[in-house]
Amino acid sequence: MLETQDWKDFSITSWYDKFKHITMETVILELPEVVLDKLIYHPASNQSDGEEEEWDEETPLPEDFKEDFKNALNTLGKTVFIKNNWHSPTDAKMFSIGNALKAQNIDDVILYFTTSTAIQQDFSNVKGVPFCLALRKWISIHPAAEFRCIVINNVLRGITPRDWPTFYGHYKEEGRQIIDALQEFFAENIKENFKRKHYTFDVILSYPDKPYVLDFGPLNSKTNLYAFSWKEINPLLNKEVPKEVSPVFRYLESDIGIMTRAEALRKIKLSE
Ligand SMILES: Nc1ncnc2c1ncn2[C@@H]1O[C@H](COP(=O)(O)OP(=O)(O)O)[C@@H](O)[C@H]1O
Ligand SMILES: [Mg+2]
Repeated sequence: MLETQDWKDFSITSWYDKFKHITMETVILELPEVVLDKLIYHPASNQSDGEEEEWDEETPLPEDFKEDFKNALNTLGKTVFIKNNWHSPTDAKMFSIGNALKAQNIDDVILYFTTSTAIQQDFSNVKGVPFCLALRKWISIHPAAEFRCIVINNVLRGITPRDWPTFYGHYKEEGRQIIDALQEFFAENIKENFKRKHYTFDVILSYPDKPYVLDFGPLNSKTNLYAFSWKEINPLLNKEVPKEVSPVFRYLESDIGIMTRAEALRKIKLSE
């Protein structure tokens, strides 16, 4: 379970202003109680008369929230990607048109948030951090361009594709370039600027654009490390390393068809 300080440090409300220039444009709206209530999943009660629970679905949204939401859509371009402070409702994708999770109105937000387990878990687990709705400019992202970077003691140690385990032939040819680009990006923009010393950041790298950050996240046994395992990352946390150490970029080296995550890890370990 994360501590309140973890929730605070990794909330987009904590890092957005500092990293505005290297992430996509975002409007963050704090969620008033009435709006939050609409975003929380209320299971229908089993009362014999079939009446709904106490909460009132018909409570209107506050006018100023509606106004802020409308302005955000106008600023960001009508269609947005949404998150709470920490997560996007990607596990609610099946409810969205074309699997794209595009939100165009408050009803979309309510649908995605109430049907997302990740979002609902945050709402029930987190204490001491005001909940928000982050509306982000919607961009089309090629899955091969998404990387998760692992930072240990303020040093970039690992890079993994987020689309894992999928084989992309160009990773091999461009491996050195990818490492160099991400290392330079990290050194110039993130190192020492993020307030933790162990963390992950997710980044989009697609030439000829500059890399940009999608998200920051905690580094612990629960973190999805894709091509890496916590077993191999954990011991590095207490190890001093020279500042110039080069990160490991781990990817699938050959197309071995569809396999499970465990199989992929086994395979990659054997070939190292
Ligand atoms: N602004 C955006 N527009 C379109 N797709 C996005 C946007 N931001 C993220 N995504 C997609 O959604 C996925 C999850 O986004 P992310 O911000 O990392 O959420 P989470 O922290 O819940 O994983 C990303 O891997 C990316 O493919
Ligand atoms: Mg994330």
